[in-house]
Amino acid sequence: MLKQEIEDGQASLADPQFRADVLNGLALRPRAIPARWFYDRRGSELFEDITGLPEYYPTRTEIGILRRIGPELQQHIGPGQAVVEFGSGSSMKTPLLLEAIRPAAYVPVDISGDFLRESAGRIAGQFPDIAVEPVEADFTRPLTLPKGLGAMPRLGFFPGSTIGNMLAARAVELLRNFRDVLGEGARFLIGIDRIKPLDVLIPAYDDAAGITAAFNLNLLERINRELAGTIPLDAFAHRAIWNDARARIEMHLEATRDMTFAVDGRVFSIAAGETIHTENSHKYGPRDARLLLRAGGWTPIAEWTDPDDWFALILAEAGPERFAP
Ligand code: AVJ
Repeated sequence: MLKQEIEDGQASLADPQFRADVLNGLALRPRAIPARWFYDRRGSELFEDITGLPEYYPTRTEIGILRRIGPELQQHIGPGQAVVEFGSGSSMKTPLLLEAIRPAAYVPVDISGDFLRESAGRIAGQFPDIAVEPVEADFTRPLTLPKGLGAMPRLGFFPGSTIGNMLAARAVELLRNFRDVLGEGARFLIGIDRIKPLDVLIPAYDDAAGITAAFNLNLLERINRELAGTIPLDAFAHRAIWNDARARIEMHLEATRDMTFAVDGRVFSIAAGETIHTENSHKYGPRDARLLLRAGGWTPIAEWTDPDDWFALILAEAGPERFAP
């Protein structure tokens, strides 16, 4: 019954927040839909493919840094920690951290329950000495850590430059939420992508094989499928541009001709050359990144990059908040 309704193209079963974001976003000028809606099953697969592309430097660069700094991390952090990973997804980078610091517990936090249980099971099998306690939750909201962690010192882990998707104000809110979740005295290891030459940045978001284009266009397929859309997919082209004033890569879907379509019974007309803004990926200079952390209640204590300075891992501490220097 449920399946039939979906196949009939009725939008009634779609996530109400998805529907609201799409209908409002298509009516906005400039038109914009939040990047979080990229990640349906197909979108998550395409993102995994992106992380393996030769042009997409962030994943391999961050993994390279993590491998290299294992011994140093161990010195800073020590054993017996509770590692809390926010938005753990497939937990691809987690083993590198766990091997380096040998924590007592690992708490992956993710909104996608299936994905979470699958990767938590894999990590538990790989690290029998570590208590793995997954939490299915939206990490942008307040959340309660498992009681079993007791007084273990906390280390937050937020790799992948996921923070880059957020505007500064939202990024600060998120960092403050992590601080509230982890508590004063906790530490936090975050991956942040650096500002770098455009001949590296642009191809990373507009690759030769067209995987990033497919990832961007998949949003329209999702809208058509889940929200009874009639968007002509062949009338949109993937665009990746650098917005220098805001230090970010923007992804857009650009209309290649005038068109009219419907989504959930609402009609939209888009002219050739207009775009739907689908993602921001903010990049941070060294001082920008440290300022962002401080604004979010975290004091940077150590920082590592790759030889090209393309990506940074920053270790920070939730010290007491004081007004004086
Ligand atoms: C998952 C937000 C870190 O901004 O690099 C990759 C998403 N979008 N290619 C990024 C993404 C297009 C990615 N983040």
